[in-house]
Amino acid sequence: MFRLSSILLAFITILPLCLAQRPENISICDFYTPSILGENTASNQLLLITIWVNTFVLGNYTTPNIGIPVHGFATPEIYNGTEIALLPYFTGAYNSTNLGGNAGVSKLFLDDGGPVPVLKNMSSNGNTSSAQYQVFNHIYQYFGSIIGCSLQGSPDFPSYQGRTSMYEVHKFMDLDILQMTYFINLVDTAASSLGISLDDASTIGTSLNRAFNTRCASPISISNIDAPSELQSICIAPDCPLDPDNNCSAYPLDGLALAPVNITDNVTVTTGGNGSTIGVPLLLDLLWGLRWIWILNLILLVEN
Ligand code: HEM
Repeated sequence: MFRLSSILLAFITILPLCLAQRPENISICDFYTPSILGENTASNQLLLITIWVNTFVLGNYTTPNIGIPVHGFATPEIYNGTEIALLPYFTGAYNSTNLGGNAGVSKLFLDDGGPVPVLKNMSSNGNTSSAQYQVFNHIYQYFGSIIGCSLQGSPDFPSYQGRTSMYEVHKFMDLDILQMTYFINLVDTAASSLGISLDDASTIGTSLNRAFNTRCASPISISNIDAPSELQSICIAPDCPLDPDNNCSAYPLDGLALAPVNITDNVTVTTGGNGSTIGVPLLLDLLWGLRWIWILNLILLVEN
């Protein structure tokens, strides 16, 4: 009985949100911040984006939430018959991070609380020099710009402060069409789960697919990101569709992706005998880096 009345109440409360149509001259961010969170302020814009991003990372965990289920990429999921696991790119399991050299390196991004602060609508525990704080905040800022948050650029919601070529950021990850399409679908579904209309969510998905989900795209600039035209293809594995306006020679190695090595595979610990591939300290680091997968699974298990 309680459940039924809560569902009815939720339905009645969200109905006006679903029916409201966004005028074309108002950005998705400016339209939905007041309609979902009450007032269009820079901090509410940041809150909307925070909940959106944290939802596509972890799955539904908070309100506003109109009842559309979101899995979240922090736990693996079968998508089109294939298991997709994106978290290892953030745990240091792959040597896939671009720190400026000719090859990717392993880097732990979940170094300031992992899922615990994320479940409280935060990026991290607040250590501003942590990788977790940096990457989450950069992603909030980037996605805020993509959906046109007009109040960005204030201390409450700074403009994007990360790297501006998405190819450079992701170039050692070798992301393929399934991983990218899965990710973009999650981004869309997370948006709809907050009360953003299906039309507007699919507008976001279409622009992400156009800008990032093809191979060898010619250099472009991204709206509301202050940067010149740069390489933006994130999908660079061989199965990614070639961009209609392609220019492979603009990319290093003609756009050929270098597959990252899963450095947790074939781990043999030295016992004083034959060739080991990884030493004990590195193995311990990796296990420590992967602890968030287990903690997150435990939290999600308890919450459900
Ligand atoms: C439409 C698709 C995507 C967009 C627009 C996007 C955007 C971004 C942005 C803005 C950053 C911050 C860069 C910085 O701090 O300088 C970032 C970092 C990152 N993204 Fe993505 N991303 C996308 C897809 C993915 C996918 C599918 C993965 C797979 C796991 C991924 C993994 C990462 C990782 C590991 C980082 C941290 C890299 C670093 O700081 O070196 N991204 N992304």
